[in-house]
Amino acid sequence: MTRTTTTRMPAILAGCLLAALAAPAAWADAPPRPVTSAGDAAAEKAFVGALLAKMTLAEKLGQLNQPPGVNNSTGPAALAGNEDQLRRGEIGSWLGTEGAELTCRLQRIAVEESRLGIPLLFAYDVIHGMRTTFPVPLGESSSFDPEAARESARIAAVEAAAHGVHWTYAPMVDVARDPRWGRIVEGAGEDPYLGSVLAAARVRGFQGDDLAAPDTVLATAKHFVAYGAAQGGRDYDIADIPERTLHEVYLPPFKAAIDAGAQSVMASFNEIAGVPMHAHQGLINGLLRDRWHWDGLLVSDYTGVLELMQHGVAATREDAGRLALHAGVDVDMVSNIYLKDLPAAVQAGRVPLAEVDASVRRVLNAKYRLGLFDDPYRYCKGGLAHQQAMTLTPTHREAARRIARKSMVLLENQGDVLPLSKSIGTLAVIGPLANEPWGMLGNWVGIGRPEDAVTPLKALQSAFDGRMRLVVAEGADLNSQDTSRIDAAVQAARGADAVVMFLGEHPEMSAEANNRSSLDLPGVQQQLALAVAATGKPVVAVLLNGRPLSIGALQGKVPAILEAWFPGVEGGNALVDVLFGDANPSGKLPVTFPRNVGQVPIYHAHKNTGRPPREGEKYTSKYIDVPWTPLYPFGHGLSYTTFRYDAPTVARATLAPGDLRQQVRVRVTNTGKRAGTEVVQLYLRDDVASITRPVRELRGFRRVELQPGESRTVTFELGFDDMSMLDARMQRVVEPGTFTVFTGGSSAADQHATFEVMGR
Ligand code: BGC
Repeated sequence: MTRTTTTRMPAILAGCLLAALAAPAAWADAPPRPVTSAGDAAAEKAFVGALLAKMTLAEKLGQLNQPPGVNNSTGPAALAGNEDQLRRGEIGSWLGTEGAELTCRLQRIAVEESRLGIPLLFAYDVIHGMRTTFPVPLGESSSFDPEAARESARIAAVEAAAHGVHWTYAPMVDVARDPRWGRIVEGAGEDPYLGSVLAAARVRGFQGDDLAAPDTVLATAKHFVAYGAAQGGRDYDIADIPERTLHEVYLPPFKAAIDAGAQSVMASFNEIAGVPMHAHQGLINGLLRDRWHWDGLLVSDYTGVLELMQHGVAATREDAGRLALHAGVDVDMVSNIYLKDLPAAVQAGRVPLAEVDASVRRVLNAKYRLGLFDDPYRYCKGGLAHQQAMTLTPTHREAARRIARKSMVLLENQGDVLPLSKSIGTLAVIGPLANEPWGMLGNWVGIGRPEDAVTPLKALQSAFDGRMRLVVAEGADLNSQDTSRIDAAVQAARGADAVVMFLGEHPEMSAEANNRSSLDLPGVQQQLALAVAATGKPVVAVLLNGRPLSIGALQGKVPAILEAWFPGVEGGNALVDVLFGDANPSGKLPVTFPRNVGQVPIYHAHKNTGRPPREGEKYTSKYIDVPWTPLYPFGHGLSYTTFRYDAPTVARATLAPGDLRQQVRVRVTNTGKRAGTEVVQLYLRDDVASITRPVRELRGFRRVELQPGESRTVTFELGFDDMSMLDARMQRVVEPGTFTVFTGGSSAADQHATFEVMGR
């Protein structure tokens, strides 16, 4: 904080600072320096306590109130009303509000014109980039690269902070095993282990090493919890899961995010076993705070507090507010219930003031940790110049391109159709997404703009300007039944040396509330793809979509299929890099691809059952009209080179119960002619246990870059956490018995080794 800023602070707040420091005279005369020190828990407690003591009930509830976004609001009228609220201290944080100038202006009102001058928090959904759009999270997760996830979150934070944003509502860490659910695109897929590693990486990226640095933002692990288990894949529906599944599958990424320091968590819209999450005392205050000792800020989801009435657990708005606050929901996003309906309840003793105080403390703690009491303008004071200088820079674009390349998954490459030769004479560019910027950006793009996005067609034109003839034919819309243009596309293919088709979903077909009951390519795109493939030309299908698609009809007909998800602002360039071999694909599927929607749920870490599927045996667990196996298993992804795995070896055949350390080694060789990166995966199975265990669980992965002919031995360390399970009493234990370790390039890997944990 500079002296100038402090002197502008209202006297009451300055008094708190002085009290907290207990050295007012020295501070008053000291040169500019921070007056609070984030990281010093005692100082934080004293500061926040002193401030709290000066607050009225209305001011306290104001700190818990979060109105909807200014940028998205109905304009000046709404803003004027909000400004008066600010002066009265009725707003503690603001949703969906960004921009250095706007946030500084609003902050100034809060700091200079309200009684206590408490700075605001500005929150924004920075999901996969602020202006520099990175691949959608599900796509980025295909990189199996925590460093990529950290880096994109870091860049997103730098850009967001320069726009005055303090708080992002990411990472979304919901495990999702139902591709009908539109929000599968926002997370890391089906696996709790991969999800945990990436959750931690993304938190570290957003929050950096030092939350008090002005280019870091509060990360929010969302949506707590089991939101991805929505019944029928319908967003907001109930999560009908056993407690064991909650603990084994849905909670681990939250634990990982919290262990990585996540300062914020968002409650989810669903209920679990009859208790809506916004009223779930047992899981919020009980588990998160008491058992996990997390001291961060819990924010409701959009009108999540009000929705307790729709759930049918609250008869009135006051009831809804009382239940949510009691459960431990600190910030009321948009419902306006804490502010309007809780004052009377507190005064009448129906809501304990201590609960209000606890939540207010957590809001103030967050502001303290961000250094906003040192300098409320630290995120916005760089103004437009700083905002522009930090945004969509060449370095950020370079990172977006690099990460997009790593996110693409080569599903098929029959006859080595890919990579394409750069000396092709004529290339047919077909499909509704060849030149659609939104097909690059995806659904939740911060402040990303279509004009920033490099489409595949633009990238092809600039890469091969004048050297390659590009014949463009859309062939079909994204989602209509119009087949009238398919013939023209087939003609274009016939006249070309090779064909690339850009097919998939519109971004509005995935993400929030965009659930589908079919996983097929929408509209007539499958018909288009098959008609083009029937020309017999070298044909590549690039898929741009937000969920696994059941594209089995293309298998064996379209020789090369590249899953590119929504690859971000540099998607077109990254695609050209991959299609023409400047980059070798290394992505692996973070989620199983079903053959058809009827196979859902289908995921790799399933149980064996008493009658596991067996070909030719009727009374086993399978279908009569489709194989039981997936179209593509979790972890699948090809390369332009090939890899050979030697059988894994374990360092110790037996482990004593008091020394559960194991090392697994696996040698991988690049047997092809190109350099390539392989994601080496390790799965573990507890062969016999007191509680049934999944057929295998991911317990390690490593990206290994290998030159042609090069071999590398990868060593994985396993310990208690990897081998343990929850027993019948829900205690974490490692039971004696044998374990099987599988290693390879996907969850279908069958090379294995065993070891035994001895009894006592
Ligand atoms: C979503 C959240 C999001 C919030 C604020 C809600 O509808 O479920 O993920 O953070 O809106 O935009």
